[in-house]
Amino acid sequence: MSTRTQNFKVRSLDLAPEGLKKVEWAEQHMPVLMALRRKYETTKPLQGMRIAGCLHVTKETAVLVRTLRAAGAEVAWSGCNPLSTQDDVAAALAADGIPIFAWRGLSVEEFYWCIDQTIAMGPTLTLDDGADLIFSLHNRHPERCKDVLGGTEETTTGVHRLRAMAAAGALRYPIIAVNDAETKWDFDNVYGTGQSSIDGILRSTNVLLAGKVFVVAGYGHCGKGAAMRARGMGARVLVTEVDPIPALKANLDGFQVVRMDEAAPLGDIFITATGMKDVIVRRHFEAMKDGAIVCNTGHYDCEINLRDLGEVAPSRREIRPNTEEYRLPDGRRIFVLAQGRLVNLAGAEGHPSEVMDMSFANQFLSMLRLAREGRGLPVAVHDIPVEQDQEIAALKLNTMGIEIDVLTEDQIRYRDDYAAGT
Ligand code: ADE
Repeated sequence: MSTRTQNFKVRSLDLAPEGLKKVEWAEQHMPVLMALRRKYETTKPLQGMRIAGCLHVTKETAVLVRTLRAAGAEVAWSGCNPLSTQDDVAAALAADGIPIFAWRGLSVEEFYWCIDQTIAMGPTLTLDDGADLIFSLHNRHPERCKDVLGGTEETTTGVHRLRAMAAAGALRYPIIAVNDAETKWDFDNVYGTGQSSIDGILRSTNVLLAGKVFVVAGYGHCGKGAAMRARGMGARVLVTEVDPIPALKANLDGFQVVRMDEAAPLGDIFITATGMKDVIVRRHFEAMKDGAIVCNTGHYDCEINLRDLGEVAPSRREIRPNTEEYRLPDGRRIFVLAQGRLVNLAGAEGHPSEVMDMSFANQFLSMLRLAREGRGLPVAVHDIPVEQDQEIAALKLNTMGIEIDVLTEDQIRYRDDYAAGT
């Protein structure tokens, strides 16, 4: 049940005090975003902007929302995954006057209904994670696109989707690919996904990782993070890939690279991080050993084919929160975490605040750029400027009390002198 009042819909406003404490905790651990808030709260460069956001409702996202508002924007929000909303945080935002439409456990219809409520504000900017908001605007409310100066995209899957839209000539306003910033994907995707996925597995199962065979499907930034952290906990990690370059990287990083068909009978824990559908299918389930645990940390819930699993293992029950036991006719059990949705957000709290600090600093600065320059930008998917990456990395180091060396004038001349050799 959710509470519907004038301009929000959340699980229960009674949860707001708990949510607010979490947001305050996150604010303490997001010094870069907080510095940007202090810098822009007097000049209010987002005044007049209406931002529709569709991104996991977590304590870190709440810090971003409050920062956008402090900079002058009107903000309306929905979650970008049916199972990732932290209901207490959503309540805190609603109690603070944010039109937010989000609760954990949305149906697909409710998911798009929530997005539509934010589109109703008539956005001038969109902030997306997975491109469902942008696609909804283009597909179901195309008349609204002309008012949008631009949008940002948080995740690899969304950027792929938007590049495909741009290539097909279907994109109607410019997008900044926040995901592709170095201070985003080299940190959030690797260390954030690494830690939060392990966190989700442990909160859901509390199994010992040491000594387990841990299978990671996909060795992009996210898969690499999960593989590194599982190894750090003492698991023996196998990696599966379809692309020879990341497969080679995984091998040289010391992981055993195998095909999923080989991994299926060996794995104790499987995690998918590919962005691709049908990574684990019927024949893999049929080969798995009793007690295998299967989960996903990719954006959508299509990587593990649960329809196939339901067919080979028709008997099922929830055995722990976020953990469903499927029983095969021969008695073997396979455990699926978080219904195959993002285990790090549905089974835990998502990436820690410290790493979201940089991702959301990128979001915030990209919003400022689009408000300033959006009308003049070609309708395409744009990278964030190198200077923005540098600024955020420098700010982050500064907040950590870390100083780095500076090139001398002579070194700069040497660097740029193509005639200098042996
Ligand atoms: N994606 C992964 N972790 C997240 C978090 N803590 N907040 C918002 N989006 C996320």
